[in-house]
Amino acid sequence: MSLTIIILAAGQGTRMRSDRPKVLHQLAGKALLEHVYHAAIALKPAQLFMVYGYGGEQVKDTLMHLEAKWIVQPEQLGTGHAVQQVMPNIPDEDNVLILYGDVPLITEETLKTLINASEESGFGLLTAHLDDPRGYGRIVRNEDGEMIRIVEEKDASEQEKQINEINTGFMALRGDLLKKWLEALDINNAQKEYYLTDIIEMAVLEGQVIKTIQPGSDIEIYGINDRAQLSQMERYYQLIQAHELMRQGVTIADPARFDLRGDLEVSQDVEFDINLLLQGRIKIGKNVKIGPNCVIKDTVIGDNIEILANCVIENAVIGNGCRIGPFARIRPQAVLDENVHVGNFVEIKKSSIGQGSKINHLSYIGDSDIGKNVNIGAGTITCNYDGANKHKTIIGDDVFIGSDTQLIAPVTVHKGATIAAGTTISRDVEEDTLAISRSEQKIIKKWKRPGKVKH
Ligand code: UD1
Ligand code: CA
Repeated sequence: MSLTIIILAAGQGTRMRSDRPKVLHQLAGKALLEHVYHAAIALKPAQLFMVYGYGGEQVKDTLMHLEAKWIVQPEQLGTGHAVQQVMPNIPDEDNVLILYGDVPLITEETLKTLINASEESGFGLLTAHLDDPRGYGRIVRNEDGEMIRIVEEKDASEQEKQINEINTGFMALRGDLLKKWLEALDINNAQKEYYLTDIIEMAVLEGQVIKTIQPGSDIEIYGINDRAQLSQMERYYQLIQAHELMRQGVTIADPARFDLRGDLEVSQDVEFDINLLLQGRIKIGKNVKIGPNCVIKDTVIGDNIEILANCVIENAVIGNGCRIGPFARIRPQAVLDENVHVGNFVEIKKSSIGQGSKINHLSYIGDSDIGKNVNIGAGTITCNYDGANKHKTIIGDDVFIGSDTQLIAPVTVHKGATIAAGTTISRDVEEDTLAISRSEQKIIKKWKRPGKVKH
């Protein structure tokens, strides 16, 4: 049987109080809908449909890169109506799996179990037992424990509200049956909507057995309806990721103060201090220590590296043996070779820094190529911007740049040259020479500082 997946994502999500459609709100740096999509696509479906509606263009534009067929639900008349929009595209003999775009942490394993259940019985439904079932549809069973229908909370009697087995909304069944039952739906209910959940009762009346299965963990089925739930889910998810990393051999000082919004590939003996935020694609080698309060995005970090407190690093490459920070800012296209030291209040952008070079204090290095074993003194600035264009600074191996130097690009300082402190370099400096530009020091003897004027 070939598998078709439908993800419902047309709802507005009124309770988010947002112009942004709910499914685009982010969990761990990814849209809610993207989380569901990734779990779904792992099942290798023959077709995957996204039903969109509210804020539709925004949803489609943001998630265009996902491999899916987008079907519009012009009016949000309920979950049953949403599924109906896709039915003309679905072969009768397909197994159809229905997922919700606002339930982001569903796993591939649970979905596989659900598909197996539907293949065995003809109709699989994912349910869960919750201490607090409020807000969900409830699973109604007969005396023999067989499932007979779902009642939505708004339509439930006081007695039915006591049931703590809930409908997650995720189901799988054959295309032709789904089609038939969807056509018979009506809006005789509290919300005047076409409820997808009503097909259960129809199925049961025709003698269909509903095989219910449960998720590995309740977190998988939590839907997000408001921002409080969103932040709660974020913390759950971050804890799951932190524990997975600890299993892989990472020391995390406080898993509650660790955030990964993206993908991390990490080797052994890596230590994260508190308040670390990792974003995008990050790769970290062996024996790396990252101090408190760092933000690191899309970066490759080698082996035996120490990143001290309060560094911000983006789209950079940090070579083996480097020491960075505290308070360093490494910006896009910075490439640090082995054993480079970058100290406090140093900003590096679009520059390569050669092996063993040191930039330890208060400097700006932009659009530069710096060779090996170069020493950049405190307060050195590459003046890379003339107000209209950016220019390059090239510094050869073994150069010594004294403190408070300005290098006015485009400019080259050749191998082995020395720049005296306080110099403004505006022309190229030859190999093994000394460049110095300073106005001569004057001494005025017996100088009296002005005193305060008395009124
Ligand atoms: C639904 C279920 C409820 C279940 C709960 C689980 C129905 C009638 N109720 O309720 O039994 O316990 O999910 O989370 O199905 N959507 C559309 N088009 C629409 C309406 C909704 O695409 O016209 C989408 C939403 O974007 C969302 C999903 O369907 O992804 C669920 O809709 P929502 O309104 O959140 O349903 P619930 O009231 O939570
Ligand atoms: Ca919901």
